Amino acid sequence: MSGFWSIYVIVLVLVTVVGSLWLLQALSTKQVDESEGQSTTKHVWDKDLEEFDNPLPRWWLILFWLTVAYSVGYLVVYPGMGSFAGVAGWSQTGQYDEEIASANKRYGDIYGAFSDVALADLSSDPEAVQLGRNLFQNNCVTCHGSDGRGARGFPNLTDSAWLYGGSPEQIEASISNGRNGVMPALGAVLGDDGLNDVVAHVLSLSGSGAANENGALKFGQMCAACHGADGTGNQLLGAPSLKDDAWLYGGTEVDIKDTLMQGRMNSMPPQRGTLTPDQIRTLVAYVLSMGN
Ligand code: HEC
Ligand code: HEC
Repeated sequence: MSGFWSIYVIVLVLVTVVGSLWLLQALSTKQVDESEGQSTTKHVWDKDLEEFDNPLPRWWLILFWLTVAYSVGYLVVYPGMGSFAGVAGWSQTGQYDEEIASANKRYGDIYGAFSDVALADLSSDPEAVQLGRNLFQNNCVTCHGSDGRGARGFPNLTDSAWLYGGSPEQIEASISNGRNGVMPALGAVLGDDGLNDVVAHVLSLSGSGAANENGALKFGQMCAACHGADGTGNQLLGAPSLKDDAWLYGGTEVDIKDTLMQGRMNSMPPQRGTLTPDQIRTLVAYVLSMGN
């Protein structure tokens, strides 16, 4: 909170507290003047209904005094006065971190039970797979789908086509560190004819079009560095194979043209801050089990 807003909030709070005290003081000292008989508020309803102007009952007033005293105590102990943190040092994020730490301690043993099992064998352990499935439902389905089959721009994790590799270690690295795939926009460099030729060549790589000599030449010059001379891709860069039927952005002529014109940028968020290494291992087990 910036200095100005902090002061603004403090002033508002103090004015309210002092105002409440003043009001209570005024009400507490009000006396009934017995000599004049019962005074009324002078409002008359239905010709003869009047309202006595009596002081508040003492027990009620005391409750109000206690409420104000409580709020002052609260403002000293807990945050509430602008950016003053309160003497107890309590904060929402602090409480959240504490709860996460205690949950990790409580569940650590459950996930830790598999820390001796080799990553490759973990996918045949039904218990580890079940734990991984639960984590997947909570952390991954928004992007990869509840069945792990992905969607446009989000890779299918159940097939044999991998951007970054399907070995247990590669999958663990994908989940833990996250991934960033960048396909440069090359449409302008290729020009209209070059673009059509390269698209024809890409289509021919997966067997859905006739060979195109000029396209193959251009591919060798501009694409092979990342996608490989034969188009099988490069898992170090996350450059996908263009020879299979698995497409991240669609495999029609229009889709491929679009990919080349606009380029593509994609990112998988790293999970290592959110999940423990043991939890990530059970996720690897589950991802591997989906493919089998
Ligand atoms: C915000 C969306 C998002 C979330 C959440 C997400 N992912 Fe991903 N994931 C992606 C994207 C996008 C890619 C592809 C990155 C690229 O193209 O470079 C990817 C890639 C991957 C890969 C590599 C796939 C390959 O073909 O090599 C794995 C494995 C993976 N994610 C597993 C997971 C798991 C397990 C979780 C849950 C802990 C998860 N992801 C959560 C978006 C997400
Ligand atoms: C700098 C490396 C690099 C170069 C050069 C490059 N690509 Fe890519 N390409 C990638 C990466 C990385 C991806 C995956 C992007 C992602 O993860 O979203 C990709 C994705 C694609 C896709 C989408 C595949 C799908 O599954 O939908 C096509 C098609 C493609 N590239 C064709 C080409 C062609 C044709 C050329 C040459 C004109 C080329 N690329 C040049 C790195 C490159």
